[in-house]
Amino acid sequence: MRVLTYSNYDEMSAAAARMIATRIAELSEPVLGLATGSTPIGMYSELARLHNEEGLDFSGTTTFNLDEYWGLDPDDPRSYHWFMKEHLFSRVNLDPAKTHVPRGIGVDPDAECERYEKLIEEVGGIDLQVLGIGMNGHIGFNEPGSDPNSRTRLVRLAQQTVDVNMAKGALDSLPGHALSMGIGTIMEAKEILLLANGQGKAEIIRRALLGSVTRDVPASLLQTHSNVVCMLDEPAAKLLDLS
Ligand code: PGA
Repeated sequence: MRVLTYSNYDEMSAAAARMIATRIAELSEPVLGLATGSTPIGMYSELARLHNEEGLDFSGTTTFNLDEYWGLDPDDPRSYHWFMKEHLFSRVNLDPAKTHVPRGIGVDPDAECERYEKLIEEVGGIDLQVLGIGMNGHIGFNEPGSDPNSRTRLVRLAQQTVDVNMAKGALDSLPGHALSMGIGTIMEAKEILLLANGQGKAEIIRRALLGSVTRDVPASLLQTHSNVVCMLDEPAAKLLDLS
């Protein structure tokens, strides 16, 4: 794993956006795995800027989001469909037919997960998967204890995850379940970009990067992937001895 530390969030976000822009330029039909949450917001803003000011062209790019709350309509502002429209899809020239987020309502969950896995397979897999990390080490909505071979499925969220996400969004309620790509699905990405910022993430980043590889800290399983870049701001890197 390559660990890169930046002096602040904006620099980390700009570097992450540059890495994505490079892959988009290099690959004829790029397939990106995308994440939601507060961490990638700066990266999405920078991607929008690169599109508007430097002509970064998303028209040939396909995207797959990691997860969606179970039971939320895409038009619900709490949904990850909404988040992606707000932060990226409405700001760049992605083809709506090529942007994929699991459907969290009005479908049979097992059939939806199977459909999602097939779609990823049909386009030849994910070239670059962006990940944030939860306070408990989750990646996507793969909570501690998740099977390292898990595929896209309906998952029950840890209470901590629901509480943290409600607090971040100043929300009164969020579903307790979600559809999430599995750890096995994520690990098949050809390249992974793990992002974390802020002092609150320092301890979980230490455990994920330097601790033992265990399903109790899902992000630690990334240590077994051969092509991971981890971008951190200084506060998140604080407990790593990188000397
Ligand atoms: P955050 O969430 O980016 O809002 O910190 C990350 C996550 O829960 O995966």
